[in-house]
Amino acid sequence: MAALDVTDEEGIAALAANLQGQGRTLGVIINNAAVLTARDTQIEELDFQDMLTTMNINLYGPMRVVKHFLPLLTEPELSIINISSEAGSITNAYSGDYPYSISKTALNMFTQQLHVYVKERRFKCSACIPAGCIRIWAGQKRQRIRPKVLKGILDLIEKRTTPEGHFMFVDYTGKDMKI
Ligand SMILES: NC(=O)c1ccc[n+]([C@@H]2O[C@H](COP(=O)([O-])OP(=O)(O)OC[C@H]3O[C@@H](n4cnc5c(N)ncnc54)[C@H](OP(=O)(O)O)[C@@H]3O)[C@@H](O)[C@H]2O)c1
Repeated sequence: MAALDVTDEEGIAALAANLQGQGRTLGVIINNAAVLTARDTQIEELDFQDMLTTMNINLYGPMRVVKHFLPLLTEPELSIINISSEAGSITNAYSGDYPYSISKTALNMFTQQLHVYVKERRFKCSACIPAGCIRIWAGQKRQRIRPKVLKGILDLIEKRTTPEGHFMFVDYTGKDMKI
């Protein structure tokens, strides 16, 4: 398994080209990598380096990955899963966590745009592409993904669950979350 730095576009492009050169294809892209910086920091104290770092990883990272790996998604029923967060919900906005929350809100927008784009482009499977955001509930502290959450994600990837709402911002059961 090759390690990938999602801020390194050259490295991402090289890995995608390498796999393509080997005739490899993919059925799913899962963008999971993210950082949570400036936890609880208010706007008056915000260091914009934290904004830049976070956007670079949490938003531009998935965009770079999709940019270079989309051509490898040749399965008729492809999936792109961008792991988002409830923190990216505008409806449930809270003060603090500016870099993280804003990066996830923007990621949700990217996901929606991608959903429209992929639907238009891959007409053969336009009805069954959950380009979705999934919030992984891990509670207050880091822990392994619970088996039922993992199963929910697999069901979305393998189309046993299809998000039904307009916005592709869903939880692991495929249910709409508040955008
Ligand atoms: N934990 C929660 O409660 C929670 C809630 C809602 C949403 N989420 C979302 O779920 C996803 C996973 O969260 P988590 O709690 O498992 O986070 P985590 O334990 O901090 O893991 C984040 C992963 O991202 C990787 N990463 C960071 N910068 C990277 C880069 N530039 N290139 C490639 N990989 C990079 C890290 O790799 P290294 O370890 O090598 O740095 C790490 O494996 C994230 O998208 C997060 O926003 C988590």
